[in-house]
Amino acid sequence: MQDKGILPEEVIQTLWDYKKKDSTYQSGRILGSMCTAPHAVGLEAYCLFIESNLGDPGLFSGTQELENETITLLGELLGKKDIYGHIITGGTEANLMAIRAARNLQGIKDGEIIVPKSAHFSFEKAAEILCLNMKEAALDDNYKVDIVSVENLITDKTVAVVGIAGTTELGKIDPIPGLSDICIDNNVHLHVDAAFGGFSIPFLQDAGYDFPEFDFKIPGVSSITIDPHKMGLAPIPTGGILFREEKYLESMSIETPYLTEDSQSTVVGTRTGASTAATWALLKHLGRDGYREIAKGCMELTDFLAKGIIKSGFELVTEPELNIVAFKSSQISLEEIFTAMTEKGWLMSISAHPRAIRIILMPHLKKEHIEAFLADLKSLI
Ligand SMILES: Cc1ncc(COP(=O)(O)O)c(C=O)c1O
Repeated sequence: MQDKGILPEEVIQTLWDYKKKDSTYQSGRILGSMCTAPHAVGLEAYCLFIESNLGDPGLFSGTQELENETITLLGELLGKKDIYGHIITGGTEANLMAIRAARNLQGIKDGEIIVPKSAHFSFEKAAEILCLNMKEAALDDNYKVDIVSVENLITDKTVAVVGIAGTTELGKIDPIPGLSDICIDNNVHLHVDAAFGGFSIPFLQDAGYDFPEFDFKIPGVSSITIDPHKMGLAPIPTGGILFREEKYLESMSIETPYLTEDSQSTVVGTRTGASTAATWALLKHLGRDGYREIAKGCMELTDFLAKGIIKSGFELVTEPELNIVAFKSSQISLEEIFTAMTEKGWLMSISAHPRAIRIILMPHLKKEHIEAFLADLKSLI
């Protein structure tokens, strides 16, 4: 570090030089991200609460009230108004908290968790941090978890079963009602990872999409991850963890001697209130109608892309359920498609199970972006 500081204009100018190297959602080129450009209202709310620390809530009682209201609103969205939880950094932290609560309440030594083979890698982190063994359940032909496989993996060491509402790679919704039945029978915690689908499935159900129930309306569901910073359009980092009962938060409660609260259940200590303000603001501003239109728009674009991919001579690896399209070609390898399209400036990703080019139709993508993408794709074969 230099001794003498430099002028603010110079600092900002240099920062712009770095920022120009970043990709932008507005360019329409980011096709492989589950995040999107934050909504202006969420951004304004975020900036307004930039100083607020929910790790010391006695100092920020307004933000604390906002968090309580936000959790209630999210609970209402997910089938149960009287719910307990927090606004945190994202899906990884939410999944870690859910598994931690399940483990603490079950109190089993050398416990195990059962996750679908399609689960996000955050469960691997959670298992490692919490010293649990992670077992992977098989998927059916439609890339949803196979209930019989889950049932066969349950033992007296199982502390939690995970179901996913909107898988990371393919956007599939696991059969949560079936998982709920076996979790109730075996007295095991069922956690639903709706980090991606939580902010679209309920609204698409309103719009007439025939999706299975996945939330607290299903009696065996004990906790749900829902990420406002994905389809919720909040700035990052904004995640949500919800528990059916207060005992789950209490099971993780640690005394906090020098703060304005007595105890804390979150993993992080100092915790921004800005994410809470942004989530609250967007839930209020967009309402069910606003979110429904956004989710519907993404699904319409998904349909447009899927049809265009087939017309261009490529193959879908599975029928899209949410706003993710995964495809391949029988004529050129994935690597060739990926390299050629990257050279043309498209920022995609490759899924691992099954291997495919993966595109997430997030709200920053418009029809003209997808038309340009399809034109480039067609030129490959
Ligand atoms: C289903 C699911 N769960 C959890 C996560 C982890 O979320 P984050 O990256 O916000 O920690 C993701 C991220 O893509 C996800 O798709």
